[in-house]
This record gives sequence, C-alpha cells and structure tokens, in this order.
Amino acid sequence: MSWIDLAEQKLMPTYARLPVLLVRGEGVRVWDEEGREYLDFLAGIAVNSLGHCHPRLVAAVTEQAQQLWHCSNLFYTIPQVELAQRLTRLTPYQRVFFCNSGAEAVEGALKLARKHARKQSGREDKYEVVAARNSFHGRTYGALTATGQPRYHQGFEPLLPGFHYIAYNDPGELERAVGEKTAAILLEPIQGEGGVIPATPEFLRAARELATRYGACLIFDEVQSGVGRTGRFLAQEHYGVEADVVCLAKGLGGGFPIGAVLAREEVALSFSPGDHASTFGGNPLAATAGLTVLRILEEENLLSRVQEQGEYLQECLRQLPGVKQVRGLGLLVGVVIDLPARLVAKVCLEKGLLLNAVKEQVLRLAPPLVVAREDIDQAVALLRQAMAQVREGGEE
Ligand SMILES: Cc1ncc(COP(=O)(O)O)c(C=O)c1O
Repeated sequence: MSWIDLAEQKLMPTYARLPVLLVRGEGVRVWDEEGREYLDFLAGIAVNSLGHCHPRLVAAVTEQAQQLWHCSNLFYTIPQVELAQRLTRLTPYQRVFFCNSGAEAVEGALKLARKHARKQSGREDKYEVVAARNSFHGRTYGALTATGQPRYHQGFEPLLPGFHYIAYNDPGELERAVGEKTAAILLEPIQGEGGVIPATPEFLRAARELATRYGACLIFDEVQSGVGRTGRFLAQEHYGVEADVVCLAKGLGGGFPIGAVLAREEVALSFSPGDHASTFGGNPLAATAGLTVLRILEEENLLSRVQEQGEYLQECLRQLPGVKQVRGLGLLVGVVIDLPARLVAKVCLEKGLLLNAVKEQVLRLAPPLVVAREDIDQAVALLRQAMAQVREGGEE
C-alpha cells in the first residue's frame, strides 16, 4: 500500500490533500518521492521564510537539540529570553508570550484583551470583540469564533459569546459596532485566507482611533503578514498604525512551530501568573529556530530584498494574460484571474509549481523570503503555461 493510501486510511479527513508525497526540500524547491522537483511558491503557506533546510537554521536547531530540547516554562531558558529581546527590539512592543501556532497566538491575544479591559475599566460587561467578515484567525474556539466566515463555523456551534462582525475596510460599520463594551478590535492588516486583501489606511486608522476612544485593545493578527513577509517586519508599519497587541506565528520559526503574542507593557501586565500558559510555548528548540530566523532576516537584509522581489513578482504577474488584478504587499501576493483558480493551481502542481487558490478566482503566492529573481521568472513562466492550458480547455 502506498503512503498516500495509508494516509487516507489512518489520518482524520480534515484536509483535501493534493496527491503528492513530499520527502525533501532545499531553498525554494521541494522534491516528491519519485524525485520530481517543485518550485515552492507556497512555502508552507507563508511559513518557510528562509526556504527549506536553510543551513544556518539546521545547524542552530541541531546544536540546540544537543544541549536542551525542552523544559517547563516554570524555568528560564536563554533562547526564549533572547528571542523575546529581539522581538521587542524589532517592534514597538515590550512583552512577549510564546505559544505554538497562529490560532494559539490569537487565543492568547483575546484572553489578554478581555482581562485587560475588565481590569482597566472595572466593568464586567466589557468583553466584546469586533472582528471582520471574510477574516481568518484559526480553528480553536476563540479564533474560530473571531473568523468571520460562516462556512468555518458550521457544525461547531455554539461559538463564544460577545463577537460582532463588520465589513472589512468599512470604517463606518466599524464605528457603529465599537462601544463601551468592546474589549478588542481584532483585524488582519492584510486578509490572507480571505483572498489577500490589504486593509485601507483609513480603516486601520479608524480602528486605532476607536480602540483608543473606548479603551479597547487593537489586536492585529499578523500570523500570515508578519515576520518580514510584506517587506516590513510587521505589515502595520506600512500603515503607520500601531496595534496594542500583535499575533505572530507562521514565518517566525521558519517551519518550526512557534507563535508569539506581542503587547505593550501596560496591556501585557494585565496577565498574572496562572492566567495563561503553554507547555511547549517558546521551548529552547522553537525559540532557537525563531531567533535564527530573525538573525538571518537582519544580517542578510531580507526586508529590503522582500520589497524588491515582491515588486518584481507583482510586476511580472501583471503582464500575464488573464490576470485581472495583482494585490498584496511584498511577497504575500494575490492574483485575481479570469479562470477557476483551483484548476490553475492543480495544473501548476503538475508542471512543478506550488501555489494555492484562496478564492474561486484568486491565487495566492507566498514564496520564501529568500526567493531569487530566476525563481520568480521560472514560477511566472509555469503559471503562464498553466493558465494557457486551462484556457484551452486541456483540464476539466
Ligand atoms: C491570519 C491568520 N491567523 C491565524 C491563522 C491560524 O494559524 P495556525 O494554523 O498556525 O493555527 C492563520 C492561518 O492561516 C492565519 O492566516
């Protein structure tokens, strides 16, 4: 029996997986069990920030594995403190909580915001969360409730109480939803799963103003857009708007599971010992991976490179026949096409290019931050071929 057949029998059917068994990766490329090569423009969905098996990341994690893998968060460890220090140096935040995933970062942020709102206002009814429709924040109950897409909720109700949804990029609707009972406004600066839709500056500015006016936390979910993906360390920097709390995960560990909640000092200090915890969060291996990603990001000046390559990628994509719109920031790119995106992604896969469809007619590209111009040229050429093939009706 093949590994794929076995997987279909043994794993819970939560994913509509593609029929490819990946066994190896290096840089911007991965290989399947038959030795077929793929250009990875999905990068674990914005995760493999340094590409696959970056030698320095492999070396750092290996060295740490020989020293101390894990210990309880009841003790201090050096990599965790170093990572927190670096994150607070790269951002306007003073405190960090480490967890293991994006959804966990959102959970932590929501708990922190509710605790802070109650403590600061003395009001028991200050627990509401305003989130956007078409958002995506993860699959655990808090993050799932915040996710403003009913299709993810179906079958899992009842969800958490106190959540309201407004249209993304509609400051007027946001203003009508926020009030004295609001504990948090939770937004992605760029909706990723929702189709790679950047916020408008007016929308984020309105969110900042309303959060301040009502003593609510502004939380930015930068799980997908953070850690350099857009050409700035945080996407919020493009807007000149500072959230009170920021969620990170995906790219932070370069493929090693780690998430983080960053917060302003005053907000962070609303947590007391016992309020929140994670057995594995920020353990020495994960923290070493995160630290190495951040070191390389800085030492190799990857942020300006992302900006440059992102512009080049977006420009190349605009030239393709059938491309109606290219949107996003840096190397988080959505391509609106006049063809079924799922079908185009399938043909891309057959041609050796990994990307994915986020909406019926929207493809997402999120290559490693180390992607080279030649890789971009190759990917765009493959996408051009795939779109032509679908257009000619070569695929049903
Ligand atoms: C913006 C955003 N938040 C949260 C999540 C959930 O992250 P995870 O799958 O690591 O729980 C995702 C995942 O796609 C995301 O894009």
